[in-house]
Amino acid sequence: MLSNLKPQAPDSILKLIEEFKTDTRQGKIDLGVGVYKDPQGVTPVMRAVKAAEQRIWETQTTKAYTGLAGEPEYRNAMAGMVLKDVPGDRLASLATVGGTGAIRQALELARLANPEVTVYVSNPTWPNHLSIMKFMGLPFVEYRYFDAETRGVDFDGLKADIAKAGKGDIVLLHGCCHNPTGANLSMAQWEEVAAILETSGAIPLIDLAYQGFGDGLEEDAAATRMIAARLPEVLIAASCSKNFGIYRERTGILFALAEDTAARDLAQGSMAFLNRQNYSFPPDHGARIVSTILSDDALRADWASELEEVRNTMLGLRSQLASELRDLSGSDRFDFIGQHRGMFSRLGATPEQVQKLKSDAAIYMVGDSRLNIAGLNRDTVPVLARAIIDAGI
Ligand code: LMR
Repeated sequence: MLSNLKPQAPDSILKLIEEFKTDTRQGKIDLGVGVYKDPQGVTPVMRAVKAAEQRIWETQTTKAYTGLAGEPEYRNAMAGMVLKDVPGDRLASLATVGGTGAIRQALELARLANPEVTVYVSNPTWPNHLSIMKFMGLPFVEYRYFDAETRGVDFDGLKADIAKAGKGDIVLLHGCCHNPTGANLSMAQWEEVAAILETSGAIPLIDLAYQGFGDGLEEDAAATRMIAARLPEVLIAASCSKNFGIYRERTGILFALAEDTAARDLAQGSMAFLNRQNYSFPPDHGARIVSTILSDDALRADWASELEEVRNTMLGLRSQLASELRDLSGSDRFDFIGQHRGMFSRLGATPEQVQKLKSDAAIYMVGDSRLNIAGLNRDTVPVLARAIIDAGI
């Protein structure tokens, strides 16, 4: 049986990790996978996470199963962090295996509710969105997103394309820090998106994997909150991997905002059912870290300030890179790097130029020229800037 299996195409982002590991060149630079690294190249355990783990270790009396949908403390704390004003009578929630688990369960839920569903996704999007949908056999259509000239959002294209989504279809949106481009909608543009969805009855699925990495914890949730306040039905897949730095704990959450309490109860039951079918109980350790931090004023304040340090470090690197490139190119054509937000920017280089960066300068970025800003530090920014110019980008 097993010999009938076909080799699976490697994930473009994960493949890069392996390539980087085997490169023996001194001074190689990894701008691939979306993991925060401090200026010393370390992905730290955040202070509040360590403190919460200690507290859990001291006080936890059982490792018995959690609830099938996860612990209410975690789900409520996350609802507060993401939505702030929580419409409790309309909100179903589900602890998931990371943000990817939340995306997967959201798509499963959409298909359970509407077997004819088509998903509208941005072009480009996180490659695993496409991979999961292909694997599930879920029909999807790409909507225009990135303007290759300006490296901003092709908003007219986006509006025209998402307006084609029908009632009961899903429109997958990145709530902030668009992955892979770093180009984001303004609040006024988000309002227009909400109006289009209001008219069509298509349902937004908001992927919120980087809250706190763009303009701030509250600012990054603003579009999601506005959509949740305006539309009758909304799905939100949030991740704690990046903003709590607990990547390997696999801590995510799916919210389903329903039209009324009866629909909320149906959604809650179906979501718990989906957990049971896929992996039964969700993991608890990361969720418990998060609820411990969010429910304690001192831990929460310390976590929020460390997250701000992380965000400001990335912003500093962005402006340093934009200014180095301004000097070297004698133009403002790289200023978009300073305007993008989150971990990533899409440079707009060709696959050959990306290859050249790898072969000539040992600089690794995803083939579509997505670079992870957090893979840089003040010393490697000038190296990258020089290599970008030398590669003819
Ligand atoms: C990324 O886009 O690099 C991250 O979300 C990590 C991943 O799983 O791909």
